[in-house]
Amino acid sequence: MRRRDVLRVTGVGALTVAAAGTAILSYRAYDNRVLGADGGGAFDAWRLWRDDPGPHGMVAAAVLAASPHNTQPWVFRLNGDDGIEVYADPSRRMGSVDPYSREMHLGLGCALENLVLAARARGRDPQVTLRPDASQPLLVARAGLPTGARQESAMYDAIAGRHTNRGPYSGEPVPDAVLTGLAAMSADPQVSLAWVTTTKDKDALGQLMIEAAQAVVSDAEQSRDGFAWFRASADDIEARKDGLTLDGQGLSPFITAIAKLLPASSRESGDAFWVEQTRTVHTATAAAYGFVLVSDPRDPVQQLAGGRLLQRVHLAATAGGLALHHMNQITERNDRDLSLGREPLYASRLAALAHSPGLEVLATFRLGYPVREGRLSPRRPVREVLR
Ligand SMILES: Cc1cc2nc3c(=O)[nH]c(=O)nc-3n(C[C@H](O)[C@H](O)[C@H](O)COP(=O)(O)O)c2cc1C
Repeated sequence: MRRRDVLRVTGVGALTVAAAGTAILSYRAYDNRVLGADGGGAFDAWRLWRDDPGPHGMVAAAVLAASPHNTQPWVFRLNGDDGIEVYADPSRRMGSVDPYSREMHLGLGCALENLVLAARARGRDPQVTLRPDASQPLLVARAGLPTGARQESAMYDAIAGRHTNRGPYSGEPVPDAVLTGLAAMSADPQVSLAWVTTTKDKDALGQLMIEAAQAVVSDAEQSRDGFAWFRASADDIEARKDGLTLDGQGLSPFITAIAKLLPASSRESGDAFWVEQTRTVHTATAAAYGFVLVSDPRDPVQQLAGGRLLQRVHLAATAGGLALHHMNQITERNDRDLSLGREPLYASRLAALAHSPGLEVLATFRLGYPVREGRLSPRRPVREVLR
């Protein structure tokens, strides 16, 4: 029996496991951290992020941001106490999953937003320039750090409580006033938020997401490039401190534990599990979907600004007791089609759901009230991302 099967049928898996050899299970339990999964060094960053009062502390907050497949595509350079430069790390690109670095720049924007909040909480007034030097495309942002008023905020406090929640959401709708408040969070006129809340549009978007997930897994190169970021064992997680894990899949603690006791999933079974979860959990329980909209989704500056908004919204949602799950398979497929010289298959259906002529979807997520809490994902500590 493989993980995919236990993830699909639950009770049967438990019985099968119970019948297996105790010694092997004990070893697997130890090896894969069935208990205390969040306790290792790969998770220290979540506990130590407030400690340092200077620029190191700002980077410590930045590394807790969301990033595509938890690639953490960032490098930081400190200019003494006066400024921080944020660079993209091209070795952490996702190949055919993100051929135009749209998601990489979104993730860098997410990190920048945490950095700005942490700077304000430390009595600085961060002055951010996106892509300050056209001759250095990897230098995505420069932040000057003059002294300013100390500003702690609910969003800053939410930094370590924010997690991508891939589990089921309760059926409770999110009040319109909450959605309106989140949409008003954009601090940059280049980016805006649109909500998908009607049953008709949610169903159509959910269907598009399922089709796009199926298309991703049917594309061997995209499937391989995505699976390269799955970390199957505790050793792997501790060694790399990045990537996607079983703990982050939003399964119940019991099913997560059982899945860890079984042999690691193949790429094919992991793909099948994701498509199944997309159909039966992600799209089936979304209270609303959100789109980040821009005029030009290929523009790195708009991608970075979109990432900042995405992170702000996620932090504010966390502070308000909401769960959020990034779901970008539709745009990943559209970019893939474009990169192969094809007409993007889902572009017109996606645009019709955004109801925003002149703007395009940069990123997509679902929102709702969580049934279970999101779990910690691994992080590389500050010392590993400083140059
Ligand atoms: C630009 C971007 C795209 C993402 N796309 C997806 C996605 O399509 N599906 C998904 O499950 N998670 C997606 N994520 C969530 C990341 O996998 C997640 O941020 C990362 O694993 C770290 O986990 P955390 O957000 O819980 O800290 C995305 C995140 C970002 C920033």
